[in-house]
Amino acid sequence: MEMDQLVALCKRRGFLFQSSEIYGGLNGFWDYGPMGVELKRNVREAWWRDMVTAHNEQTAPAGAPGPYEMTGLDCAIIMHPQVWKCSGHYDLFHDFMVDCRESKHRYRHDQVWGRWVEARGQRFFVTTEALGHEGLEETEQRALKFFGLRAKNADELVWDGPLVSLTTVDDSAKVLGPEAKALGSLTEPREFNLMFKTYIGALGGEESAAFLRPETAQGIFVNFKNVLDSTRVRLPFGIAQVGKSFRNEITPRNFTFRSREFEQMEIEFFCRPGESPEWYRYWRDRRFRWYVELGLSSDRLRLRDHEAAELSHYSTGTADIEYAFPFMAQGEFGELEGIAHRGDFDLRSHMEGKLDPKTRPLEVEKDEHGQPRHRGSGRDLSYFDADTKERFIPHVIEPSAGADRATLAFLCEAYCEDEVPDENGKPTKRTLMKFHPRLAPYKAAVFPLVRKDGMPEVAQAIYAELKPHFNVFYDEKSAAGRRYRRQDEIGTPYCITVDGQTLTDGTVTVRDRDSLRQWRVPKDACVDEIRRLLAGEL
Ligand code: GAP
Repeated sequence: MEMDQLVALCKRRGFLFQSSEIYGGLNGFWDYGPMGVELKRNVREAWWRDMVTAHNEQTAPAGAPGPYEMTGLDCAIIMHPQVWKCSGHYDLFHDFMVDCRESKHRYRHDQVWGRWVEARGQRFFVTTEALGHEGLEETEQRALKFFGLRAKNADELVWDGPLVSLTTVDDSAKVLGPEAKALGSLTEPREFNLMFKTYIGALGGEESAAFLRPETAQGIFVNFKNVLDSTRVRLPFGIAQVGKSFRNEITPRNFTFRSREFEQMEIEFFCRPGESPEWYRYWRDRRFRWYVELGLSSDRLRLRDHEAAELSHYSTGTADIEYAFPFMAQGEFGELEGIAHRGDFDLRSHMEGKLDPKTRPLEVEKDEHGQPRHRGSGRDLSYFDADTKERFIPHVIEPSAGADRATLAFLCEAYCEDEVPDENGKPTKRTLMKFHPRLAPYKAAVFPLVRKDGMPEVAQAIYAELKPHFNVFYDEKSAAGRRYRRQDEIGTPYCITVDGQTLTDGTVTVRDRDSLRQWRVPKDACVDEIRRLLAGEL
């Protein structure tokens, strides 16, 4: 599948629209259309149900070291600015960017790739934003053009090494920017904080500056004590939150994959420090299985443990769940979710204002007496274990998923084309979205075969019976074949058709989206039939 085909289907069938499209769009922002809103809501609800409400707290699930509790939160997007100082985001949440003085474009320093090339006595680093085969081809085309060579003279180019990141290059004068014609147009890399800044209240001065949250996690940490004091949860337990996060990404791209406004589904799982490695392994495997259960195929999905050098400033162990999105180069994967062992970093820094000693320390602010000003909340965020009579700061395992990235992966995985006979038996191309039934926007569609002979009335009665139980769609417009195609393209797993036989024997046809199998059921058994189909019992 080409990404363009999916993007076109998303627009045509109302899954995704560019934000503010009638004004030319806004880069990095997306709107979910009538089908997209249902799909993404189903992703969020499947996550919440599977992780929180359907979790049985009395027994240890498969692979877990023991039973555990789960609860939820819904925190404000704008939080006290000190939260971001203690979390490290204020000082450390940076990307490096480079600007091109010639093309006026801005790039993320680590996302520009290039190769050293020499010809006609000149050696320089020719760059591209593409990776893999596409990146190699583009750098060759650009080098040929730079030297004024034709394709047949490509052997005059002497390449020195593979595609590597621009971060490996010290001398910017020797770089040909991704869209530049002359060497040396890229600036030196500069730090850029990814948090969106805003101002609270009418005054608008720096004292009222605040940030849109770049992750939902911190709302959970700062409410840790409130949850302990207001519920009966005891270690080990998890707090889940779903909500919007904002990052002023330098180069948003690849459809919704890297957006500036997106939704996260995060769990902060609190446990005893000695037990944290086992819980880390449990959550890593449990979260991987979740994507498989909802239909992501194992050959496009992988679990990758981070190298020590890749770990975030707070993490002592992290694994990513990654998906081979079609817009990525062959062999490349994009992150769907990170599962991080965060130790006691967050609770401790909100308590004491300390940062991990491996990272750049916060500048120590002094008060009017020259004494270091307390940077944490000063509140006690420790946990008292009533059984062992010990007091300690719990360790945290954090499975942090992106709702938009998961939705995009489910869209990519679902897209397929096959051939089916039309009304006259002629093979015709069909596009279908093979969503897992739990994720499909509509669970069933109800059609009268024709708009006469009392068929619409029977179909409407079935629709009315189904509607309180499932999201179903009624359609009597256009030819039956076209109505089926439309439902296939939005991924409706079952279609129920009222036809001539219904009027004589009271049965309707049920059609399966993927196999095209059709069978008959009594018209008043539709609710049970769809329920059993969705439960996988049939
Ligand atoms: N609390 C940890 C945290 O936020 P992260 O790896 O930065 O970790 C977690 O983000 C998840 O959020 C990612 O795996 C991804 O699914 C999603 N995400 C992050 N940045 C995103 C962006 N710019 N656009 C869409 N999703 C994003």
